[in-house]
Amino acid sequence: MNYFWEGHKRKNTGTVKWDGQKNPNALPFWVADSDYETAPEVVKAFIDRSEQGHFGYQLTQDDYYRAVISWHQKRYGTEIQKNWIIPLPGVVTSIKQAIDLWTAPGDKVLIQTPVYFQFHRVITLSKRTLVENKLRLNNNRYEMDFADLEEKFKEGVKMMILCSPHNPVGRVWHQEELEQVLVLCRKYGVILISDEIHGDLIMPKYRFVSVNSLTEEDDLVMVSTAPSKTFNLAGLKSAYVIIKNSRLREEYQNHLNAAFLPGINVFGLLGTQIAYAKGEKWVIAQNKHLWTNYNYLRKKLNKEVPEVKIADLEGTYLVWLDLTYLNRTSADLVSFLSQEGLTVNDGSTFGRDFQGFIRFNIACSFSQLAKGTELLIAALKKMEKNP
Ligand SMILES: Cc1ncc(COP(=O)(O)O)c(C=O)c1O
Repeated sequence: MNYFWEGHKRKNTGTVKWDGQKNPNALPFWVADSDYETAPEVVKAFIDRSEQGHFGYQLTQDDYYRAVISWHQKRYGTEIQKNWIIPLPGVVTSIKQAIDLWTAPGDKVLIQTPVYFQFHRVITLSKRTLVENKLRLNNNRYEMDFADLEEKFKEGVKMMILCSPHNPVGRVWHQEELEQVLVLCRKYGVILISDEIHGDLIMPKYRFVSVNSLTEEDDLVMVSTAPSKTFNLAGLKSAYVIIKNSRLREEYQNHLNAAFLPGINVFGLLGTQIAYAKGEKWVIAQNKHLWTNYNYLRKKLNKEVPEVKIADLEGTYLVWLDLTYLNRTSADLVSFLSQEGLTVNDGSTFGRDFQGFIRFNIACSFSQLAKGTELLIAALKKMEKNP
């Protein structure tokens, strides 16, 4: 699969990642999408569908549901049923609906920081109280702090949003960790929303466990996911939730009906269906490529700037870099790196205690990654000389 190595020219195509940068000439390592084409089977299906020349209202057909069900079965070993699946235009949208439905203004919603910045925004903009259960660092690897989680639950948390696998720290949670989360959610009646959008981006040696494989029908759990990160389809706006619990499912469906959200568009449905039905080999090849990119970046940084602490990458294509040795704010780091030709994410947007951290997206061609690594190393050395 050569194109993982060659990449894809996306500059001047209106992509946020390339054309939304402060420095338009920088190489982008920020927004979580990838710089290679999606699976060729998906592109072909779009071309064939375009040639039909009609784009009216579309049914969500059995082929779509079959593809989703079979993906979960073969990739995660979970048996899900057609009526548990509810398509929606986005994972964050689905979380927002859950917050609106199952919590009230002022209620406590818990996240595990550092975590995807939209989790912070969706809670605070919904006027709920954000509660942080900080992850603990142990030897370059982040772990859950269960004692603190239980303390927070005791104080009356209504909902927990779990990021599994975790953006930005790259953890793929073990079954035991997820089981412990579930035990606590059951004990304190906390509704668990498991965002599993990165669940297919798993590095060799690691195994993704979907919360769905651990739950009973009466658990207060909703899984939200999409093929958008895995297959670079975020612009299609095609996600879905899976709700086993029949009461929660009915409440959620009624809530969506009243919200008049748009359904999934023709290409969103088709993209999801074809990616899942035909894209497995492509995903396996992509994960291998990401592992190569990660190891290249890690080795180079270890050798040239050993002060940088690099979180282990178990899943996702997002690398969490601790640059606190430079003693600069994340905003300062982002702005300096931008001038030096690289766009990265500001670590402090993932958690207020993470000043001096950045997030670096490695889902690109090897040559782009190598160029980015070179620019990053040169910029870090320059910063060190000019404290
Ligand atoms: C953990 C996580 N959830 C959700 C999203 C966004 O999903 P959507 O565009 O479907 O709202 C992202 C994007 O980076 C993400 O990392």
